[in-house]
Amino acid sequence: MRPPHPEIVIPAKAGTHGATASQVEKWVPAFAGMTLFVWLSMAIPAVVAAAEMPPPGASSCSGCHPASTSVQTPVARLVGRPAAEIVTALQDFRAGQRPATVMERIARGFSEAEIAAIAAWYATQPD
Ligand code: HEC
Repeated sequence: MRPPHPEIVIPAKAGTHGATASQVEKWVPAFAGMTLFVWLSMAIPAVVAAAEMPPPGASSCSGCHPASTSVQTPVARLVGRPAAEIVTALQDFRAGQRPATVMERIARGFSEAEIAAIAAWYATQPD
């Protein structure tokens, strides 16, 4: 809807079209500061996350193996267990040498290197 008198400028809104030179001078440093802030806020968590990121596949384990001691479950917890223990268990599951309902099939889905990475990651997670 067009105002009845387009030539009448409402004082409160006067000057909002187009930035004056002084406004531009204020915006340039503000934009630079904002860019730095956005960059830092993305870069810092990325560095922190890189150290704690689970290796591929590790997060799929926690659907059945709980990370928290508060969860009552018959499925063993993996966090804080020696890496060698996890690796051996998975190798035995894969070879069909350890009784399993689901782990035999799950263990077959991972390579030696993936298992080693997952086991090492779980071993270092706080219990
Ligand atoms: C679908 C649920 C499920 C998923 C997903 C799963 N597990 Fe298991 N895990 C089990 C069950 C159940 C057992 C007990 C053996 C069995 O019945 O297969 C087990 C046993 C184990 C054991 C032996 C624990 C012990 O103390 O005897 C290890 C080690 C293990 N899993 C590691 C893993 C790893 C590593 C992953 C992710 C790559 C994983 N599991 C994903 C359900 C699961």
